[in-house]
Amino acid sequence: MKIELKYFTGTGNSFRVLETFDAIFSENINSTNISEIAIDDKRIPESDLLGFCFPVYAFGIPRICYKYLKGIERFNTRQKVFIVVTAGDSNESGFAIKECVKILSRKNCEIIYSAVIQMPNNWTTSPKPPFPPSSEDAKQIIHKGLIQTQEIAKEILNGVIKYHVFNYPKRFSKLKFYWDYWTFKYIGVQNMWRLFNVYDNCNACQLCAKICPTSSIRIIDNKPVWNKTCEQCMRCVNFCPQESIYQTQGGDTKGKNKYHEPNFKPSLKNIK
Ligand SMILES: Cc1cc2nc3c(=O)[nH]c(=O)nc-3n(C[C@H](O)[C@H](O)[C@H](O)COP(=O)(O)O)c2cc1C
Ligand code: SF4
Ligand code: SF4
Repeated sequence: MKIELKYFTGTGNSFRVLETFDAIFSENINSTNISEIAIDDKRIPESDLLGFCFPVYAFGIPRICYKYLKGIERFNTRQKVFIVVTAGDSNESGFAIKECVKILSRKNCEIIYSAVIQMPNNWTTSPKPPFPPSSEDAKQIIHKGLIQTQEIAKEILNGVIKYHVFNYPKRFSKLKFYWDYWTFKYIGVQNMWRLFNVYDNCNACQLCAKICPTSSIRIIDNKPVWNKTCEQCMRCVNFCPQESIYQTQGGDTKGKNKYHEPNFKPSLKNIK
């Protein structure tokens, strides 16, 4: 069986989950190919099975993933797809799957499995808790999340068909739910890059600029400067060796746990 796996990740959770799928699928004599989504990648090679894994941002999928799914060409023959999303709170994140299903159903895709996998919360600059857990707590959450992932991968190989059922979170009115969703995706992401700043201990090491998945940081006059292509993935914040990065307007990061999946090593890009 030929399996194509696609992910987007800020701090490694979604990568680790899809890598775990990859390991189980490969063990069972499948030919798998795992890669990060690229916004200009309009044609995905047809395969026996296509799997996506994205993080959840404000109930939905990240803007970059949304644009990517919208941009891919319709498959010529019916394409089997599974979708998993990683979330800090798995009880409230099924809307992200709904979003993917809506887009993919129009691309001649047959969704055969969907699930939300709880992984550590990485939103360090969030103005309100929950913030990233301690490394001990994170370890336990990852362990549980990856066991769930392995079970799902085996179920998929055994032909089990299962869909995540989405219920609106009880603590929100529908109006508040959609308000948070729309404001983050259509106003927040386009403006929150303006809130980034650094504490005085930034030593201009350039790591943030080299690891940003969307190349949204330039170092100017020995300080990082962000731009509007930023997806708020929190990689720069959580990997900065000096823990220098914060956001104005409630996005303080001093004294907060930083989080990235411990085995995840982002690749280093050349910067100008
Ligand atoms: C901007 C932002 C918004 C988030 N919103 C949610 C959310 O609405 N619900 C949730 O359960 N987790 C939320 N999270 C947590 C992430 O979905 C979670 O930590 C995810 O596993 C990160 O995946 P990654 O390591 O692959 O980037 C948010 C994280 C960020 C950075
Ligand atoms: S990684 Fe941190 S210390 Fe290095 S340039 Fe970026 S903000 Fe400054
Ligand atoms: S600037 Fe930081 S938060 Fe924005 S996309 Fe790049 S690494 Fe992620």
